[in-house]
Amino acid sequence: TRHLLGLEGMTPDQIEPLLDLAESYALLNRSRKVPRDVLRGRTLINLFFEDSTRTRTSFELAGRRLGADVINMSVAQSSVNKGETLLDTAATLNAMQTDLLVVRHSQSGAPALLARKVDACVVNAGDGMHEHPTQALLDALTIRRHLGTLGGLTVAICGDVAHSRVARSNIHLLTTMGSTVRLVGPSTLVPSALGRLGVDIHHNMEDGLRGADVVMMLRLQRERMSSGLVPSAREYFRFFGLDRRRLDLARPNALVMHPGPMNRGVEIESSVADSSQSVIQEQVEMGVAVRMAVLDRLTRSRRAA
Ligand code: CP
Repeated sequence: TRHLLGLEGMTPDQIEPLLDLAESYALLNRSRKVPRDVLRGRTLINLFFEDSTRTRTSFELAGRRLGADVINMSVAQSSVNKGETLLDTAATLNAMQTDLLVVRHSQSGAPALLARKVDACVVNAGDGMHEHPTQALLDALTIRRHLGTLGGLTVAICGDVAHSRVARSNIHLLTTMGSTVRLVGPSTLVPSALGRLGVDIHHNMEDGLRGADVVMMLRLQRERMSSGLVPSAREYFRFFGLDRRRLDLARPNALVMHPGPMNRGVEIESSVADSSQSVIQEQVEMGVAVRMAVLDRLTRSRRAA
């Protein structure tokens, strides 16, 4: 397909080769030997309606390393402020012969809507509470590098799952690849309805972490909560924060992951985030490689079409 809108419905036969390509880009990044002609003559526009550090920067680096012209549209200084709609904004960028449109938006489904209206390949860089596909792909690549497989693992995804597009994409990918996913958190943030996604649900950290191969922590997404329902940081950490004592219930050398941005002392103890079990910085590194693979693959399928 021409776009990457989500991981729901993707098969292992589609996921594994993408991760293989990303792994090869990870090695080329390390040796500073990336071929600069893969995206030569292509134009990539980053269109972010929500804040970002990692995703926007890594798409920019990925595009530039492969030779594309990359534009970061500053939505805050754009004509969106003068009332231009999302679709008219996209049509305007489309008329400039854009090849790749990387979109982050607070509304679930916004990138899919754009994909129906533009000629460019659309990449979902996070839409509302729906999906964040490149995040789950970079998480998967990081796990595969350390544990050698994505099948047969037990992955505990802990915290504010209800508001998390990262969790949803990870659930789709990891269950598709044959791993068991446990969702761990208070019932307000891990509602039992999520069980329909084929996951186990735990409302107690100790039960959820016991024997896990991977512990993935999530930020409290206060911006998606109504103000009366935001838990206090201190209470939250007491019951659902990842500290050393709780991490020791997981398998020895279990991986500690976090998509970022991280709130130290709220969902994760600072020393655990910086411990030898943490692969949080490697996740960021793999983010560039995964996005290079996605941009390469999408433009290749477009050339072939
Ligand atoms: N993980 C993630 O999407 O981070 P940013 O919001 O900084 O892009």
